[in-house]
Amino acid sequence: MFQSSEIYGGLNGCWDYGPLGVELLKNIKEEWWKFMTYRENIEGLDASILMHPKVWQASGHVENFTDPMIDCRQCKARFRVDILADSLNEKKKKKALEGLKEKIINNALLSEKFELIQSKTIAEHAEGSNEIDELFDRLIEENEIGGELLAELNCPQCGNKGTFTAARQFNLMFKTFIGSIEDPNAVVYLRPETAQGIFVNFLNVQGSSRQKLPFGIAQIGKAFRNEINTKNFLFRTREFEQMEMQFFVKPAEDKQWYDYWKAERMKWFYSLGMTKDKLRYHDHPKNKLAHYAKEATDIEYLFPFGWGEIEGIHNRTNFDLSRHEEFSGKSLKYFDEESKEKFIPFIIETSAGASRSFMAFLTDAYSEEEVNGETRAILKFHPKLAPIKAAIFPLVNKDGMPEISRNIEKDLRKYLKVFYDDKGAVGRRYRRQDEVGTPYCITVDTQTLEDQTVTVRERDSMLQERIAIANVKEYLLNKIIED
Ligand code: GAP
Repeated sequence: MFQSSEIYGGLNGCWDYGPLGVELLKNIKEEWWKFMTYRENIEGLDASILMHPKVWQASGHVENFTDPMIDCRQCKARFRVDILADSLNEKKKKKALEGLKEKIINNALLSEKFELIQSKTIAEHAEGSNEIDELFDRLIEENEIGGELLAELNCPQCGNKGTFTAARQFNLMFKTFIGSIEDPNAVVYLRPETAQGIFVNFLNVQGSSRQKLPFGIAQIGKAFRNEINTKNFLFRTREFEQMEMQFFVKPAEDKQWYDYWKAERMKWFYSLGMTKDKLRYHDHPKNKLAHYAKEATDIEYLFPFGWGEIEGIHNRTNFDLSRHEEFSGKSLKYFDEESKEKFIPFIIETSAGASRSFMAFLTDAYSEEEVNGETRAILKFHPKLAPIKAAIFPLVNKDGMPEISRNIEKDLRKYLKVFYDDKGAVGRRYRRQDEVGTPYCITVDTQTLEDQTVTVRERDSMLQERIAIANVKEYLLNKIIED
């Protein structure tokens, strides 16, 4: 991975995938595409990034896709209010709440509001439950009382208390202009999610593919968000890729399909070898649901910096299609031939980040082990994800070994991404491939000259098998594609 525009000092929140990175990313997207669309009831789509501006009014992004931001007047650091709240432990939150209560005791209006919001007194809240968190989150989002609560907190950067400005809403969509005039009527947005391209094409796809409910539409594509705090490498970037599928169902079947996709998406991460103990669901409590969702969960991965969302699964109800119907004036109803009814389907969404998945697969694959007193660093990628599938080595650069090796390479290259290496001791060559996660290394040696066999060494076990040259291609394809 390289910083975007590195020679100019980089561009915050943007990254470039280098030669191996792009292979890994491409393989992740390909596996997702196969898993999701090689089904009878899912169609693919590639909608344009720029869409009619009304799309983003209908979706609620113009109004709601905002983060409340605060600045420290002392050190000028900028924070997202929810992230600042998440960084505080229960003790600190309790202390701030008690400080707030004390401070507003003589302000009848605020005191009354406080009492309305809290269901019991601060002392009554059970320790270790989410009750304090929930109360804190509700209060901090309130206009005036939220400002008073912020005044009880210390800036995490400079440590000063009471230095925060009032919260201001900041829209995360990138704006640009279509055509040659920078006029407010020419504003378009870089899409902040791929989902809307699917919603507005619902009837186009349904009609042209003659699908019946339930069915889905899948898309992989770039999304852009003007994130305030980009952080943790690829975790929160300004430009990233999403792998989204919207599944259209009868309203009464929403729960059944939500549960199905929740389980199915976790299976995908398992099927590509991700450590089960490092994956979990985080179900959203009702008071934290997005404006469009009836039920939602995140699939989280345990990154070195802690648990982080890599995919969201949402029951979006009929919110999106109803809003597009309202804003476009075009009917988006589905006609059910069996019941002869017309209705707006519910949508179950699976929304994975390709770049976050990339970071999770990369982190998960990294391991180190002791071999003969030396440290062996390996990327234990599932063979389907590995950037290079096989490396071919002549043991020595003479006796016809390079020619035989080149022939094997030429044959494999038609099917797989392979690598030819004749530099240095063969042990060093194995290590170099381990470091980039190549699952198989093929070595042409003296015995090859006698019986037309080669050794195939498997990365994780380091076990070697002798295989006839004529069978190498089939052997690798079986291992990599069928596995
Ligand atoms: N259509 C629903 C939607 O976009 P989201 O939870 O905002 O939902 C879905 O995003 C996924 O997109 C996340 O689980 C994450 O993997 C990825 N994602 C979101 N924002 C991101 C960012 N700034 N950088 C990298 N990936 C991001």
